[in-house]
Amino acid sequence: MRTYLVTGGAGFIGSNYIHYMFRKYGDDIRIINVDALTYAGNLENLTQVQDRPNYTFVKADICDKETITRIFAENEIDRVVHFAAESHVDRSIRTPEVFVHTNVLGTAVMLNCAKAAWELTDGTFREGKKFLHVSTDEVYGSLPDDENAFFYETSPYAPHSPYSASKAGADMLVKAYMDTYHFPANITNCSNNYGPYQFPEKLIPLIINNALQGRKLPVYGDGRNVRDWLYVEDHAKAIDMVQEQGRLFETYNIGGHNEKRNIEIVNIIIETLREMLPDEDPRKAHVTTDLITYVEDRKGHDRRYAIAPDKIKAEIGWYPETMFKEGIRKTIEWYFAHEEWMKNVTSGDYQKYYTEMYEK
Ligand code: NAD
Ligand code: DAU
Repeated sequence: MRTYLVTGGAGFIGSNYIHYMFRKYGDDIRIINVDALTYAGNLENLTQVQDRPNYTFVKADICDKETITRIFAENEIDRVVHFAAESHVDRSIRTPEVFVHTNVLGTAVMLNCAKAAWELTDGTFREGKKFLHVSTDEVYGSLPDDENAFFYETSPYAPHSPYSASKAGADMLVKAYMDTYHFPANITNCSNNYGPYQFPEKLIPLIINNALQGRKLPVYGDGRNVRDWLYVEDHAKAIDMVQEQGRLFETYNIGGHNEKRNIEIVNIIIETLREMLPDEDPRKAHVTTDLITYVEDRKGHDRRYAIAPDKIKAEIGWYPETMFKEGIRKTIEWYFAHEEWMKNVTSGDYQKYYTEMYEK
């Protein structure tokens, strides 16, 4: 039985990955989820798996070298899937140091502990051990508004935000471990994810939540920035495929071939909500484009991201399976069915963040 050490498994993508992995492998794998439960980590995302005998949760900070060392010492870890990070660009513009600490130092601790646990006396690594570092397309910077321009694995790194710079730093450390020690790892750089359990500081859940509450829908700048949206389950599947079928030491870009301007996304959400809400639902009256409000642009706002997922398709056979029309309906359905989840995550600290960010 393979044992996975998943970091950041209580966050958006990490929790979706854990659900995906148990759906796929059932009792044939064991998962240890290490998460510090920051504002973005939520054990409510994992209630369906929490009682499984092959699932363990450890509340720990990835920067805590002693605890991570102990987890490796007490468990025969075969796979590390490293999600844990500070992930929100707007927050990184306000508090960059937290991002450097968790994303760079935390990744260094994870690499070092895995290396110490897996390295043999001759400097080679124990058979079958693998580390996958989950990263972002934002490390490549910004593309021009030209639909033929894409990010490739060979694109130069040119991060702009403190978030993407810290992720680029983490990627470089993983590359350094592969180059220096021949450490068995992969890096994946993925585009924007959407789907269940996403914290409503990010565009799609924020717009869904605000629209349902009749609150303004804040669109940064001219609303014409482009992101390449991927349904989160497709990302989870890609990570597993890269780790099991990819070539070690390689980077794989993961993307949806689903580029949309932010304003298009906002309009699609309004349209879809209006289609899905029954006529007698009082919220239907206020879910209209009148809520759209253009606000000050994000500092250093990257114009366009777009991944060409050619390598992962050619080498591994992965491609995005969920069309946006279907994915956004599934996402909205999930938020309809999880109003309590939304209430819980938007109480307390979220209000303070929201006021400082949007209502100052
Ligand atoms: P998230 O913010 O929803 O979750 C991050 C998780 O990491 C949370 O559970 C949090 O508690 C945990 N965490 C944060 N600091 C920690 C620490 N010091 N020690 C232990 N746990 C800690 O993020 P997400 O959107 O799920 O992103 C997960 C990973 O995927 C990140 O590495 C991010 O850079 C990358 N990524 C995200 C996207 C996206 O669209 N969301 C796209 C590409 C790549
Ligand atoms: O590209 C991958 C990245 O996607 C991940 O690495 C990040 O962790 C993830 O947060 C995401 O970054 P973005 O900055 O692209 O995502 P966000 O949802 O914050 O914003 C998407 C776009 O929408 C972006 O152009 C900014 C804009 N936006 C966002 C918010 C929150 C708005 O116009 N209004 C908003 O209120």
